[in-house]
Amino acid sequence: MAHNLAPTHDTSPSRLSAALDFESLGSSHLPNSSNHSSRRGAFVVGTCVVTCAVIGGVLIPFLSPAFRKIVLPYVPATDVQTRNVCSVLKGRAGQRLVDLGSGDGRLVSAAAEEGLIATGVELNYGLVLYSRLDSLRKGFWKRTNFIRRDLFKTNLSNYDVIVLFGVPSMMDLVKQKLLVEMRPDAMFVACRFPLPNVKPSAQLGSGIDTVWVYSRSDIQKSLSKA
Ligand SMILES: C[S@@+](CC[C@H](N)C(=O)[O-])C[C@H]1O[C@@H](n2cnc3c(N)ncnc32)[C@H](O)[C@@H]1O
Repeated sequence: MAHNLAPTHDTSPSRLSAALDFESLGSSHLPNSSNHSSRRGAFVVGTCVVTCAVIGGVLIPFLSPAFRKIVLPYVPATDVQTRNVCSVLKGRAGQRLVDLGSGDGRLVSAAAEEGLIATGVELNYGLVLYSRLDSLRKGFWKRTNFIRRDLFKTNLSNYDVIVLFGVPSMMDLVKQKLLVEMRPDAMFVACRFPLPNVKPSAQLGSGIDTVWVYSRSDIQKSLSKA
């Protein structure tokens, strides 16, 4: 039997009302696709924003030192280097030490283990937080302190021992700072890179693990020679 599929032109009230009922039923029961896609869009944008914020929050503290005038990257001291620093700290329990650019705090913790009261100065706040937790975990929190600060804005006159694992480009500036702020009885310990044109009181280890020890008078003598 053939069905008549041709459009009807019946505009009687009963037919119109049936059509309207069908439309209203349809709009409340069919899924609203434009609502769904806008919610999916908001979810994708939100996920991207959160991901970028997390990646940025983790990476920026590590990358930002690269944009400073003096680039001092995060390179932790080796175990041998740490042992060499500890050797020159023997017999100094109770003295105050500062590690300029303390990284993950390993030299500060090692100094605290030797009985010194040790402070780490570090630009990267993530590393400062890590160092605090790590020294808490190791049980040294009473003798350690970690500060988020620029090492060039740190007053060195408060310390008996000043430690720096720096880079060659900063050593001249550090030398000038030491001459002004270092106490006459204090000791400066340079890791991996020595002070230029200054004869150290002592030298320990070899290669990348070398540690140089300077008194203030060692540094002053280098001026009279220049
Ligand atoms: C070579 S790492 C040494 C880390 C640590 N002292 C060690 O021996 O394991 C240098 C550290 O200095 C930090 N740093 C760079 N510039 C700095 C600045 N102007 N003031 C303080 N810290 C800085 C870096 O973030 C990095 O953690």
